[in-house]
Amino acid sequence: MTNSTTASKQSTAAPTTARELKKGSLATLRGLTPFLLPYKRQFVMAAIALVVAACATLAIPAAFKQMIDLGFGGNGAKSIKHVDLVFLALFAVATVLALATAARFYTVSWLGERVTADIRSAVYKHVVTQSPEFFETTQTGEVLSRITTDTTLIQAVVGTSISMALRNVLLFLGGLVMLFVTSPKLSAIIIGLLILTVLPIVMFGRRVRKLSRDSQDRIADASAMAGEILNAMPTVQAFTHEHIESSRFGGSVEGAFQTAMRRIRARALLTMIAIVLVFGTIVFVLWLGAHAVLSGDMTGGDLGQFILYASIVAGAIGALSEVMGEAQRAAGATERLLELMSVKSSIQSPAAPLALPPRAANGAALSLHDVTFSYPSRPETSALGHLSLEIKPGETVAVVGPSGAGKTTLFQLFLRFYDPQSGSIKLDGVDITQLDLHTLRDAIGIVPQDTVIFSADAMENIRYGRAGASDEEVIQAAKLAAAHEFIERLPQGYKSFLGERGVRLSGGQRQRIAIARALLKNPPLLLLDEATSALDAESERLVQKALEAAMVGRTTVIIAHRLATVQRADRIIVMEDGKIVETGTHSSLVALGGIYANLAALQFHNVHVEH
Ligand SMILES: Nc1ncnc2c1ncn2[C@@H]1O[C@H](COP(=O)(O)OP(=O)(O)O)[C@@H](O)[C@H]1O
Ligand SMILES: [Mg+2]
Repeated sequence: MTNSTTASKQSTAAPTTARELKKGSLATLRGLTPFLLPYKRQFVMAAIALVVAACATLAIPAAFKQMIDLGFGGNGAKSIKHVDLVFLALFAVATVLALATAARFYTVSWLGERVTADIRSAVYKHVVTQSPEFFETTQTGEVLSRITTDTTLIQAVVGTSISMALRNVLLFLGGLVMLFVTSPKLSAIIIGLLILTVLPIVMFGRRVRKLSRDSQDRIADASAMAGEILNAMPTVQAFTHEHIESSRFGGSVEGAFQTAMRRIRARALLTMIAIVLVFGTIVFVLWLGAHAVLSGDMTGGDLGQFILYASIVAGAIGALSEVMGEAQRAAGATERLLELMSVKSSIQSPAAPLALPPRAANGAALSLHDVTFSYPSRPETSALGHLSLEIKPGETVAVVGPSGAGKTTLFQLFLRFYDPQSGSIKLDGVDITQLDLHTLRDAIGIVPQDTVIFSADAMENIRYGRAGASDEEVIQAAKLAAAHEFIERLPQGYKSFLGERGVRLSGGQRQRIAIARALLKNPPLLLLDEATSALDAESERLVQKALEAAMVGRTTVIIAHRLATVQRADRIIVMEDGKIVETGTHSSLVALGGIYANLAALQFHNVHVEH
């Protein structure tokens, strides 16, 4: 148990350092194999298209040579016929090249998109099963950027780089062989010169690419900043920070511009140098070749063929160096994704889960035995200490206590979002670690302290409680939760869009949506975390009635601040500093004269003031 917690912590912390590396060893790309294996057929097809296209490319210079030597250097009618034939052959080669290239592009791009989609889904599927601990140590923004940016890098590699690499290796080797076949002496010279010219260009090119990545990062920074500010516009304007914010953004954009200019200057220089060097080499070798032709050492066709092969070889070297850089970045991305995939949630369903025994008609039984717990992020302070509690089926237990006492933590443990360091929690007599997570959580309905409203209409937001519920059942639950009236009054009633880009609900309205959700789920154990805290007096009366109706026939644990709610409970538990300090009914606790009596006195006093 403790082992698995530390293990998962290490693996969630590691990616942050890997991120800074940016580049990874190419060997990590092998980690992609499980995602590539299902598509063997497509890989074979791509490989065939690739080889055919490379052969066609390599055949073109040879056809040129024929054309030049026999077409221009030959004699009379015979050569005219030959020219026709060679041109026809050249066109046929071009057609084969076109077909093979299109086929390669299609299959390889398909593979890239397919594999990326698979990886995205796999990562997401893995992430959504993680326990809250994972989300405390990993930022959601980080996960999102893995799913989008890192997978895009992999897409580039699978979708183009692999085929580019293979194609250029073929072209390089084939071109080299053909060069030496054409003219060994010139070949030796041109290879030497190409190494001298291409290498500096490649190295400089890398720097330019790094600069372009920098400028992309700057743009991303600026837009992240703008996003945050735009979401907080009312606050910005209330503090009259408009000018400060726009000059901050302006500065960020200016930074991006400066980075872009550095890249553009470097690029301009690179272009100039590349053209001068490459053309210089070609002109020089052509000059040597021209002399060779003049002295009869080689034919004009040989020279033409030679120049074409030389440009193929040079192009292949340039392309390969580019591909290497990309592959390394993708290897880094793969590493980060694989790390994410290897994080194991510390909360897992057992391999052989137990079934729940037949349940009492009036709800579930819940018991805690000597539970001690501290949050993984704060191991030194215990949120709950040696806590024992027995809740009978159908009982309503109110939990009261000052903020930070550990009330919400108790609910988190019931739902098994965390496991306690010691002690056990049992649902209907079965240790909850022995239950399938879904069995446990299906038995629990929770109205949390902060309600999450999804970007969907009101109907769907309530239906989140039970995916298969009919519209009538949803409306019934909304009526019980005193949410029906206000939903009906929304612009499109139950079809009104809620959430970020829809209708904004008040705190009390959100709570009633949450209550409707829990009622729709109809669980044997209901957990209410200050479910009525955000309600005004009128809707609280309505919701209170609804909750009382809902508590019938089930076990309820209710965290509450208001005495009106607490007084009706069968039993009241007073918590402080993660411990149960008092237990009893309202009257017995008032008679005790402890913490609860104090709280009660304060509240009754307030009630008098309000009236
Ligand atoms: N996710 C968390 N990580 C670390 N500490 C937490 C976390 N949630 C709550 N705590 C701490 O645990 C203690 C109990 O919190 P909580 O159960 O939310 O209190 P209550 O609901 O009674 O107000 C508090 O000291 C709080 O700061
Ligand atoms: Mg709380």
